[in-house]
Amino acid sequence: MTTTPLAIGIHDLAVATASSVVELDDLAARAGIDPAKFRIGLGQEQMSVPGQDEDIVTMGAAAAQRILDRHGADGIRTVFFATETGIDQSRAAGVHVHELLGLPRSVRVVELKQACYAATAAMQAAAGLIARNPEERVLVIASDVARYDLDSAAEPTQGAGAVAFLVSADPALAVLEPIGGLYTAEIDDFWRPNDSVTAVVDGKLSVSAYIDGFTGAWDDFRARGGVDVTEIDRFCHHQPFTKMAVKAHRALAEHTGVELAPELVALTTGYNRRIGNSYTASLYIALAALLDGAGGNDDDLTGARIGMFSYGSGSVSEFFTLVVQPGYRAATRGDETAALLDARSRVDVDSYRELHALAHRDSTVDVEIAPDSPGEFHFTGITGRARRYSRG
Ligand code: HMG
Repeated sequence: MTTTPLAIGIHDLAVATASSVVELDDLAARAGIDPAKFRIGLGQEQMSVPGQDEDIVTMGAAAAQRILDRHGADGIRTVFFATETGIDQSRAAGVHVHELLGLPRSVRVVELKQACYAATAAMQAAAGLIARNPEERVLVIASDVARYDLDSAAEPTQGAGAVAFLVSADPALAVLEPIGGLYTAEIDDFWRPNDSVTAVVDGKLSVSAYIDGFTGAWDDFRARGGVDVTEIDRFCHHQPFTKMAVKAHRALAEHTGVELAPELVALTTGYNRRIGNSYTASLYIALAALLDGAGGNDDDLTGARIGMFSYGSGSVSEFFTLVVQPGYRAATRGDETAALLDARSRVDVDSYRELHALAHRDSTVDVEIAPDSPGEFHFTGITGRARRYSRG
């Protein structure tokens, strides 16, 4: 007797970001750099910046709330929170989100970390749980604030953003295909020591490590029976800056010896150009842009196979594929995401630098932070060494 494999994948996907934004043209002007370096050289226009009352919890909760508004919490027994800008060494940030959203007590909440890769690990773990019990749905939240030193080469590649996605059987957006390619290599390209709020990065090394991870994961994907490159209709990459996706696409063409049109990747960059690096969320924000047609393209992607490349410095890489489902358009959220990007307040470089300096909070000093950002969820300060949050 043969059984049809269960279709498991992404049922819904919501994006959130911080409420302030820096124009990279302003940053370039301040630094005396040609703005074309950021716009064309890096492929970035803006970067989201969290206000004092925003962090990975408030952004993650905002994304997840939209998923719950549409689908409720029935069947959710697991919340995975992927981040590399964790707010505590012990408690999962997702536990705060669980409380803010009023999720049932009968839910497990866990935080996953491996630089920008962890949301993909969460999705694969979710697929495993659902294969065992198809009635369950898993809420994956990926939320990060990318922060580098002021005046460093990495500064224009900062950003802040979150996604929440529901993994389920018979998904409305995209089915996860079973074959994935993996590549892990210890490398000092990017990391964040426990005593630092900014990442340590060797920029040039990180770019070549990313490409090596991509071709390594691709080779593993093929060795395990993954489809030929000509059978992939679009490519989504982790986008620390959107030009990185272009570089990776070229590298795959060279590696496989197959010409790959730039359009196959270009339509994934519309949101990340405006949000900046959102680490764990970045790949899934690229996916949202593609499905939403945020690049101004309204191709019907029904049945299209999307190649997804997830990279986390340090490093772990995975290449896998999704197949877009009939009727997916009814489940996308393009208008919502465009509205939240447009609603951000522009801050000047001085104000952004002040916010950057406030990133480090000494937990031994109680502080009260008045809700200031327009969002529903707020970081309200520290008391008794614990971070506090409010809703409304
Ligand atoms: P840089 O020093 O600004 O690099 O650092 P550059 O001088 O080589 O310039 C960048 C590009 O701008 C070049 O294009 C220049 O030619 C171009 P490319 O040769 O690369 O195609 N350029 C111009 N273009 C048009 N008009 C001009 C002009 N001038 C120059 N006037 C770097 C760039 C990305 C290294 C830096 O921003 C950095 O260190 N960023 C942080 C690290 C990073 O994002 N790495 C990416 C790969 S690792 C990764 O993705 C993981 C990560 O997300 C973390 C995680 O996993 O957790 C970071």
